[in-house]
Amino acid sequence: MKADLIVGIQWGDEGKGKIVDRLAQNYDAVARYQGGHNAGHTIVVDGKKIALHLIPSGVLNKSAVNIIGNGVVVSPEALIKEMKQFDDLKGRLFISEKAHMILSHHIAIDQAKERLRGAKAIGTTGRGIGPAYSSKVERSGHRIGELRDIERLSESLKEYFEINKPVLETLGVEIPSFGKIKEELKIYQESLLPYIADTTKMVWDLLRENKKVLLEGAQGTLLDIDHGTYPYVTSSNTISAGACSGLGLSPKDIGKIVGIAKAYCTRVGNGPFPTEDFGEDGKKLRDRGHEFGTTTGRERRCGWFDAVACRYACRLNGCDELSIMKLDVLDGFEKVKICVAYEIDGEISEDFVFDLSKVKPVYEEMDGWDRSEGVSKFENLPKNAQKYIKRIEELTGTKIGMISTSPDRKDTILL
Ligand code: GDP
Ligand code: IMO
Ligand code: MG
Repeated sequence: MKADLIVGIQWGDEGKGKIVDRLAQNYDAVARYQGGHNAGHTIVVDGKKIALHLIPSGVLNKSAVNIIGNGVVVSPEALIKEMKQFDDLKGRLFISEKAHMILSHHIAIDQAKERLRGAKAIGTTGRGIGPAYSSKVERSGHRIGELRDIERLSESLKEYFEINKPVLETLGVEIPSFGKIKEELKIYQESLLPYIADTTKMVWDLLRENKKVLLEGAQGTLLDIDHGTYPYVTSSNTISAGACSGLGLSPKDIGKIVGIAKAYCTRVGNGPFPTEDFGEDGKKLRDRGHEFGTTTGRERRCGWFDAVACRYACRLNGCDELSIMKLDVLDGFEKVKICVAYEIDGEISEDFVFDLSKVKPVYEEMDGWDRSEGVSKFENLPKNAQKYIKRIEELTGTKIGMISTSPDRKDTILL
């Protein structure tokens, strides 16, 4: 059996949580492969809202196994807090022994560096993501599996603090006492030990036994460390390829790939965003779409659908299908716009470019529609909404397999 994959196509917050939750009803396992508690995935079932950051969005399917892969950076503190919402995770939540930990100094470094960057701040979530991945790549990180031997881990952390003392002191990052380190690690060990596993072998076994596995991406393609709008990106490979290294799968293990995109665009944090609308339309999208971050509560910047970026993302990820989310947010606009090309210094490009900050969007305008909210059949969508969907399909060269018309699990059109 091959594993199917869900990936964000834009700058995150596309509605991945809703789709993963919906699909998880038919899967035996859901696995996260990158990111950390910078992610915020909202699921709404029968009007009840649940926000997830680290636990995979398959958790509401009681019979599915949920895996946090080695490519995820795990804050034990945040995970323990999140786990408290559920009383039945034993035997259905597993954390890779190879996943790196986010510890309090990573969070302090993240925040201190953002302050120092001043006007050039990335606008990170302040969750220690960049510093934790930096430690991993620098080979000074600490892995979840090390919680099995607290004595050894606290000694190793003590050495880390000794070596890095000058840097940490300059940044104003507090170095915890040996006693405090041990005390914290003990809490993490007590809470997390039963969940630590060799998740790579676990995923291999599931696939060998013909079990259905869904891989859940966090963030979005345009935040990918290699292919996104660097340096205004996150610190992991958010694209589908990240699932291989982030879980221990081979490219041959991946089956269907579904890209998740909003019917418009949003971005939290800083960095270029060609179709951002600074006027009334942007404000209307934010108000109607409740575009405020699940993790930090920050206002999301809003603008029109960018077909150039979407086509780029579909190719990078190898999308078999796209799900178009939040179509209902465009209800009531007299005209809707799609960016079909970029203009850079008078030249037209239909390709994504190295420096997105220089780009001016070339728009195609279409007639709007009254109401798509809550519609669950394509033929019941207003004609202009149908045309809009078909145009996205044409421009991106990717089949649209699902359309979402409200936050609720049930309001989804399957094509
Ligand atoms: P994720 O990070 O990709 O999982 O997305 P978030 O959960 O951060 O943000 C998406 C937001 O849109 C959440 O509040 C969802 O409940 C909401 N949402 C998802 N699909 C729809 C939809 O079709 N219509 C509307 N109005 N809201 C939606
Ligand atoms: P989900 O999974 C939207 C953004 C931050 C910032 C940049 C780097 O909910 O889609 P980081 O803390 O990762 O170092 O911040 O990435 N960012 C997200 N934006 N959705 C997310 O996750 C995000 N995770 C990080 O706002 O611009
Ligand atoms: Mg989110």
